[in-house]
Order: sequence, then structure tokens, then C-alpha cells
Amino acid sequence: MNDLNALPADFTWGVATAAYQIEGAVAEDGRAPSIWDTFSHTPGKIDNDDNGDVACDHYHRVPEDIGLMKQLGVDAYRFSLAWPRIVPDGNGQVNKAGLAFYDRLVDGLLEAGITPFATLYHWDLPQASQDRGGWPVRETAEHFAAYAGVVAERLGDRVKDWATLNEPLCSSWIGHLDGHMAPGVKDLTAAVRTSYHLHLGHGLAVQAIRAASSDASVGIVNNLSPILPASDSEADRAAAVRADGHTNRWWLDPIHGRGYPQDMLDVYGVELPVRPGDLETIAAPLDWLGLNYYFRQFVQDDPTGPAPYAKQVDVPEGRHTHMGWEVNSDGIEQLLTRLTEEYNPRKIYVTENGSAYPDVVRADGSVHDPERIQYLEEHLAACARAVAKGAPLAGYFAWSLMDNFEWAYGYAKRFGLIHVDYETQVRTVKSSGRRYAEIISEAAARNSKAA
Ligand code: IFM
Repeated sequence: MNDLNALPADFTWGVATAAYQIEGAVAEDGRAPSIWDTFSHTPGKIDNDDNGDVACDHYHRVPEDIGLMKQLGVDAYRFSLAWPRIVPDGNGQVNKAGLAFYDRLVDGLLEAGITPFATLYHWDLPQASQDRGGWPVRETAEHFAAYAGVVAERLGDRVKDWATLNEPLCSSWIGHLDGHMAPGVKDLTAAVRTSYHLHLGHGLAVQAIRAASSDASVGIVNNLSPILPASDSEADRAAAVRADGHTNRWWLDPIHGRGYPQDMLDVYGVELPVRPGDLETIAAPLDWLGLNYYFRQFVQDDPTGPAPYAKQVDVPEGRHTHMGWEVNSDGIEQLLTRLTEEYNPRKIYVTENGSAYPDVVRADGSVHDPERIQYLEEHLAACARAVAKGAPLAGYFAWSLMDNFEWAYGYAKRFGLIHVDYETQVRTVKSSGRRYAEIISEAAARNSKAA
């Protein structure tokens, strides 16, 4: 693709997954339940009452899955570690077998020439921590940092690229305000306190990782959206400012030393449990920012709805994925440009971007997914446009390596470049996976020609 010429020669081409979505083996080798085990086993919470007990059985199929990554030709693999595998009680005793699993994964990746990008928290809080109060209480942040230190001590000789949190917005607003994700709480105070302690946990974890591994490169992963008012009315325009605060600024300002946005503190009306030094801890300078991009949001004023009193409305025109999300690649360019101009990060990675479609294996054994190919090509071209405008974009991780447990949607939504048959665990590289491999090898050819 010529329109990718602007991407830097050392661009990192990756794929991403998360522990609970793929590993399975939830009761093996000392792993304790997480809030997602509890939530997914609560009837009615997940479509079809699916759960992550087996998922993609990745826990038992690491060599095969690394082989598939090699086939795609990726440079890097972004995965998450399951806190309840490593510190089953959330704090204290370390489970050696849990750490050994990630040791094997990391060694396998390095042997295959694939760089590990490790995320420490992708939503699977140990249930024991939840039982002690979960993210609304401060000790959870401290325990998270202790767990981060344990992991960095063990893997930091081989893992250099670390993300503390994945999408704290989801843990806070969806897990504690809408209640559609674990732990399924609907309480604004709990949600705001959760966001604060996640940020504090992030800052403390940055310190713990750097103390264990001096050459670590540490970032955080946020899911962000451009926000547009659904109409030109003053009320909808004001709603868009609030929604921008709720979705974007709340997650970016404090980690960049700007504190929490005052307009949003006023909207929430919840006092933050700030102690001296916390805001500095939260604002630890980072090596990179992770951007997960899926969709834009059009919002309407919603005075009687939950905070931020701005309701997301459907976009009827245009293309939509199987999630019902609008396909709009300009959104990723806008966000990369905004991050660059407003926050001046050292580096940005697109840590997730991808699309769900109802893929099927055809009689000839192939999986044909032209919409996902188009989505991938358009979003990569938009990334390259952002780079041409100055965004320090260093890599792109396609979500996802393979179909997996899509949280409240269970197995019905398929985001993978690789199809998974959940009955047999047979993996089939989709045409999008082959196209991604081609894009990666074309980039390598371009760069070797230019060198
Ligand atoms: O599957 C999720 C992932 O866990 C977090 N980011 C969004 C993806 C698609 O919904």
C-alpha cells in the first residue's frame, strides 16, 4: 500500500489479545477466580451465558499460537497477564506456576523473534481483591503495584515494553457506572473512585516496573473517541463537551500532570480521595501512550440520564461492524493528531484497532472477510496520514490475533484475524490475516529498498 509510505521504517507491526479473552484454564495451576469469572457465571450477564472457562484454550496452545503469529509475520505481540494467576489472593503469596506460564510465553515469543508487549491489567481483578472492596478502595491500587513489581522482577530481563492498564474507562464507567461489565456495579461514587485508584495504581506500577527493570519502556492504554454533537443545538454541543471530558480528557489530563478536569469534577460532584503526592505519582512521565480506537461518538443532551448527561445516539448512515459500531477511519487520524498536539507524547502505539464481523468457515475451509480487510487498510492509511502530520506513531497492534471472548457479548462477536472454532479449537487464518501478513511484508520490502 503506497499510502503507508509515511510510516517509519522501524514501525512495529503487532497483534493484541487479553488473558481472560483467550487463555481458558481458569482453575488450573493455582489461578484463582477474577471478577470476570464471577460476572460471566452470573446468569443473564453475558450473551448466551458464555464464559471464559475455556475461551481459545490458549493456555494449552501457546506454541501453536506463536506459530500463527510467525505465519502473519508480526514483529510484536501485545498480551495481558492475569493477576489472579500470579497473585491469586490479589496481594501477598505469589503463585510460581502462574509466573511460569508467562515465562514460557515470553521465551517462546523471543525464540520466534516476536517482541512481547505485556499489559498488566486487562480487567481481571482477583475476586479476593473485589471482596475487600475492589478498585473503589485505595489498597487495591497499592496491591496492583506490588503485583506489577513481582511481574517486572521476573520478566523484566526479557520484557521491555509494558502497559500498566488497559482501558481504565471501561473498568470505571462500564464496570462501575453502567454495570454492563464486571463487577457490574452502578454507582457514580464507586465509578469515580475506581477511576482515581486505577490512575493511582498506574502511577505506583510505573515506579515498581522501573525499580525492577531500569530499561523498561512503560505506557498506558486508553480507549478514546472523537465526540460530535448529534445536532447543532446548544444543549447537544454542551453535551459533547461533557462526553469529551468523560471519554477523553478524564483519562489524559491527570496522567499528563494537569489534574482532573474541573468541568468534569463539577459534573460528577464526587470528591476524589486525593492524598499528598498522589497527583505527581499519577503523572509519572511515560515512554509511550497507547491508543485503542474503535468508533466516534455522536451525543445528545440527556439531562435525566446518568453522568455525564450525554447520550450516545446511533449513526444511521455509513458502514457498521457486527458490534453496530460506525466504521470511520478519520477518527483514528483525528485522535492521533489531537494526542500529538495537546499532550506531546514521546511515542504513541495504536495498541488496539479492529472490527467484528460474523465470519464463517466456508466449505473449502477458508474464511473470507473483505469488510475487515477494508477496515484494516483504511485505518492503517489514516495512521499514516497522522504520521505525515507529525504524530510520533511507533506501531500498530491489530485487535485481535484471534476470535475470542468478547466480554458481555460472549463468543458471538468475532474480531480475529484468525478464526477460532470454539468446539474444536481449530484456528483458520482469515483472508484479513493473510492481507495483514502481506502489508507487513510489503512494508519490509519498501524499507529494505529504501535502505
Ligand atoms: O475485546 C475488547 C478488548 O478487550 C478491549 N478493547 C476493545 C475490544 C473490542 O471490544
